Amino acid sequence: MRIAVVGGGPGGLYFAALAKQLDPGRTVTVWERNPPGDTYGFGVVFSDETLGGIEHADPIIHDAMAASFARWDDIDVRFRDEVITSGGHGFAAMSRRKLLDILRSRCADLGVQLRFAEAAPDLERLRADHDLVVAADGVNSGIRTELADVFRPTFEGRRCRYVWFGTDKVFDAFTFDVRETDAGVMQVHAYPYDETGSTLIVEMTEEVWQKAGFAESPAVVDPACLGVSDSDTFALSRCEEIFADLLDGHRLIGNKSRWVSFTTVRCDTWHHENVVLLGDAAHTAHFSIGSGTKLAMEDALSLAACLSEAGADQVDLALAAYEAERKAVVVSTQRAAQASLEWFENLAQYTDQEPMRFAFNLLTRSRRVTYENLQLRDPEFVQRVDDWFAASLGFGAEPTRPPMFYPLRLRGITVPNRIVVSPMDMYSSDDGIPGDFHLVHLGSKALGGAGLVMTEMVCVSPAGRITPGCTGLWNDDQRDSWQRVVDFVHASTPAKIGIQLGHSGRKGSTKLMWEGMDDPLPSGNWPVVGPSPLPYKPHNQTPRELSLGEMAAIKEEFLAAGRRAVEAGFDLLELHCAHGYLLSSFLSPLTNQRDDDYGGPLENRLRFPLEIFDGLRALWPAEKPMSVRISATDWAPGGIDVDEAVLIATAFADHGADLIDVSTGQVVSTEKPAFGRSYQVPFADAIRNALAGRDIAVMAVGAISSYDDVNSLLLAGRADLCALGRTHLYDPQWTLHAAADQDYQMPWPMPFAAGRRKPQTGRSDGPKPRLELVRDPEANAVRHGRWRPE
Ligand SMILES: Cc1cc2nc3c(=O)[nH]c(=O)nc-3n(C[C@H](O)[C@H](O)[C@H](O)COP(=O)(O)OP(=O)(O)OC[C@H]3O[C@@H](n4cnc5c(N)ncnc54)[C@H](O)[C@@H]3O)c2cc1C
Ligand SMILES: Cc1cc2nc3c(=O)[nH]c(=O)nc-3n(C[C@H](O)[C@H](O)[C@H](O)COP(=O)(O)O)c2cc1C
Repeated sequence: MRIAVVGGGPGGLYFAALAKQLDPGRTVTVWERNPPGDTYGFGVVFSDETLGGIEHADPIIHDAMAASFARWDDIDVRFRDEVITSGGHGFAAMSRRKLLDILRSRCADLGVQLRFAEAAPDLERLRADHDLVVAADGVNSGIRTELADVFRPTFEGRRCRYVWFGTDKVFDAFTFDVRETDAGVMQVHAYPYDETGSTLIVEMTEEVWQKAGFAESPAVVDPACLGVSDSDTFALSRCEEIFADLLDGHRLIGNKSRWVSFTTVRCDTWHHENVVLLGDAAHTAHFSIGSGTKLAMEDALSLAACLSEAGADQVDLALAAYEAERKAVVVSTQRAAQASLEWFENLAQYTDQEPMRFAFNLLTRSRRVTYENLQLRDPEFVQRVDDWFAASLGFGAEPTRPPMFYPLRLRGITVPNRIVVSPMDMYSSDDGIPGDFHLVHLGSKALGGAGLVMTEMVCVSPAGRITPGCTGLWNDDQRDSWQRVVDFVHASTPAKIGIQLGHSGRKGSTKLMWEGMDDPLPSGNWPVVGPSPLPYKPHNQTPRELSLGEMAAIKEEFLAAGRRAVEAGFDLLELHCAHGYLLSSFLSPLTNQRDDDYGGPLENRLRFPLEIFDGLRALWPAEKPMSVRISATDWAPGGIDVDEAVLIATAFADHGADLIDVSTGQVVSTEKPAFGRSYQVPFADAIRNALAGRDIAVMAVGAISSYDDVNSLLLAGRADLCALGRTHLYDPQWTLHAAADQDYQMPWPMPFAAGRRKPQTGRSDGPKPRLELVRDPEANAVRHGRWRPE
């Protein structure tokens, strides 16, 4: 088998060594256009997991690497004159040059043909002369460009500028330094790689970069700094000045160091006939979550293994298996990297946070590190954060509890914990009257321990229903039935109960959810209305554009329903301004194209929802809170984005809202949401930070399913309350169970008290005999360690 490898970076060289080692009969040739040793970068970092793979794949490479490793456990967050340390993280780093030396020498020993200082022959020739062509030619891959029709790469340019430097200061921990400068917030990520120095990356937003005068020396558009031989000396000396205290008398060192913008590279396919992409050529992930080197070496390992498993005549099967195996890992890494890079892009919004919260926030930014796994890594650090949180809430004198179990005061009510049953339409009522189903549904959720239980969207008129099964509050029978639910919750549980009032607008007159969500009824449709005559989907009714008189009448319907909600005794009133229903469709420019005072600029689009809010606030008891649910993005071009969502939330705050409930989307059917774990939380986070210092709380919702995620996002200051929807349909006692799982003594409803311990699951969870001697007591202690050169 003849294999051509284009690119002598870590990906290409490691693959060549493994492929040759696994089958010495192969001819493996590596082309690298640069001479040996001529490379960019300083150090590379590895996690324990990657190292485990490398150890088993080729112990000779691993041992040579291990002999050069700087190993340490601590992360230092330097922020506002404080250094906050968190331990137990487990890092290993080494010089990139040294790594390439090791890989090159191993390749030479194994008989890989190394052609340094030689550009690879053209692709057609390589493909004709070889059974396999590995494109390990880096982020600007020429082969990927040549076969762009097949690989279909996308390039997502980001809005920060960064530059890689080295320094002769040997840091003793992974160090984040975040500081306010005259130009704005800048940050450093630095880590040691050997006894001579550290990698040090400086990053800032484009605006700060401009303001700091760095634009004087032009940024290099090409992220690999191709053709660059010199460093940006102005950037180097200016960064030395700005970070002089951090550098403590040491120098910054350049190596083709130029300002670049990070580009996330993704490819639809990674292989075509006998050509395969590997490493940066196939994908990139922001440096703040780990190194591209690590991903490239993991790719190499996987490709070599798949080739061996498939056999020499099955290259196509091997390439498919490699892509399937690696793509899943890379997509997950890119998702975490995306969260991390966005966090750094939006860093300025966190700089008012207390250093303790800031450090926790930074450590949990990618959502991969959480409250619970920080507790395993460094319980003392988590205890400090817990103590800070308790003190900030006025509970400093009591033993700490999991963050989700602190109460929250909203006006005159106290929500006993931070878990909310998100509003969920049950489509199960007749004539809008909540029946036994609703009593059992909401009653069981309140018994299940959630601090606040929200009703589904309760419609203000028959025409304002989404489906014939929706509940309403346009008559006294409905009020009395709701009162039965409220009374039960108040009499039998400590939970509070809130009502969500809404009008379906252009999304009304549709089938029950399980018969065809958002589809028109087969018969008996009622006319729908909206700000503009735009149907939700092509086969939905075109709404009638509301006249001012009709809007005034709808406002009256909201107020009448609000009065009945007061009479029914609800604790909180939420105005539904999300998901494309009537008030939401006034807010979005995609659905509101009016040319009167209620359309056009945001101020006008807000007018009708605010008029209704004001009317409700006036009749709603002063000691009871009001909330507003918004869609913080339309997930569609030209629609509401996070910046506008902040303005919308601020407007409602100005009008007396006590809580902003931050959902997203469902406004236009052409939306492209980026679903994923806690995917709406960044919007809640942005709004909460923008409203910091005001007496208003923020609720996050959307695929928040574990108590660990809830605790993490409360501590990091991303929200004050967490609403869980589908999770409560799965487990109505979710909060009680979360308390039991965290050994927190939450009061159970007395009739349920006998069940408060988790049932045993059978013999497998019985006590286990001890089978191992602990030889090193330190081995079980938290790894708190800083690196020192030998
Ligand atoms: C300026 C810069 C600094 C960096 N610093 C660090 C760092 O300090 N730590 C870290 O972990 N990561 C760093 N990275 C990221 C990291 O280098 C990459 O993610 C990693 O090297 C990817 O490995 P690779 O083998 O896929 O590609 P690369 O290491 O980029 O290797 C690709 C190689 O292909 C060669 N090549 C391309 N086309 C041809 C051709 N036609 N013929 C012959 N050869 C060709 C190139 O010269 C290059 O050597 C840095 C990246 C950049 C751009
Ligand atoms: C069956 C069902 C009905 C829903 N009905 C409503 C509703 O009436 N009002 C509302 O604002 N959101 C409604 N939602 C959205 C949820 O409140 C919540 O925002 C969404 O399910 C995301 O949270 P989750 O991932 O925890 O389920 C509904 C969701 C589901 C699953």
